[in-house]
Amino acid sequence: MELLPEVKEHRVPQYPVDNLFLNRWSPRAFSSQPVPDDVLNQIFEAARWAASSYNEQPWRFLVAKTPADLEKFNSFLVPANQAWAKDAPILIVTLGKKTFTHNGTDNSVYKHDVGAASAYMALAATQHGLHAHGMAGFDGEMVRATLGVPSDYDVIAMWALGYRGETSQLPEGYQGLEFPSDRRPLSEIVFEGGFREVPADDTQQQ
Ligand SMILES: Cc1cc2nc3c(=O)[nH]c(=O)nc-3n(C[C@H](O)[C@H](O)[C@H](O)COP(=O)(O)O)c2cc1C
Repeated sequence: MELLPEVKEHRVPQYPVDNLFLNRWSPRAFSSQPVPDDVLNQIFEAARWAASSYNEQPWRFLVAKTPADLEKFNSFLVPANQAWAKDAPILIVTLGKKTFTHNGTDNSVYKHDVGAASAYMALAATQHGLHAHGMAGFDGEMVRATLGVPSDYDVIAMWALGYRGETSQLPEGYQGLEFPSDRRPLSEIVFEGGFREVPADDTQQQ
């Protein structure tokens, strides 16, 4: 796949990496263009093939795509996310099953595995010309009560999914943030043989 123009402008990898990984970024401006069901299914198909501890597949995806469901899912979000996520044609809640099905014991890595499946989902969205934007800013207890999430499942995150919209449609305060972010250098995150404290470069953290 070709590098997206906004990615070409803002992201320079240290080593060769497939453009898919660079093109995945989290815009806030979403177009109202509907996402066909077969595209959505192909995106979740990718998530399905993530690895998980004991192949438990602890991820669950609750999807809103009708106006009534979108309004309901939007109400879970903090106002700072509602301000832009209201335009997304798909909203998703991810859940994680906290115990193993095969023996009922605690799964210490269920959040890890939901994250892996979510990353596959986001990459597949990019592959299909869409974007996914993760959100931690929401009321998990409201999600649990409203959507009937059982106690054995944790509410992990929410995602907005859709085709990219116009930056100009965003509230003013968000327009200047609408570009792909940079990353910490490998020297700050990969250590051979053991841990090393490296002074963080704050400019890489946004
Ligand atoms: C689990 C998760 C929670 C996030 N929560 C929010 C959020 O509540 N609001 C928001 O605007 N962005 C949120 N983000 C988006 C991140 O800020 C963004 O992924 C990060 O800055 C890296 O930028 P990029 O995704 O464009 O590469 C979240 C992302 C993830 C994966």
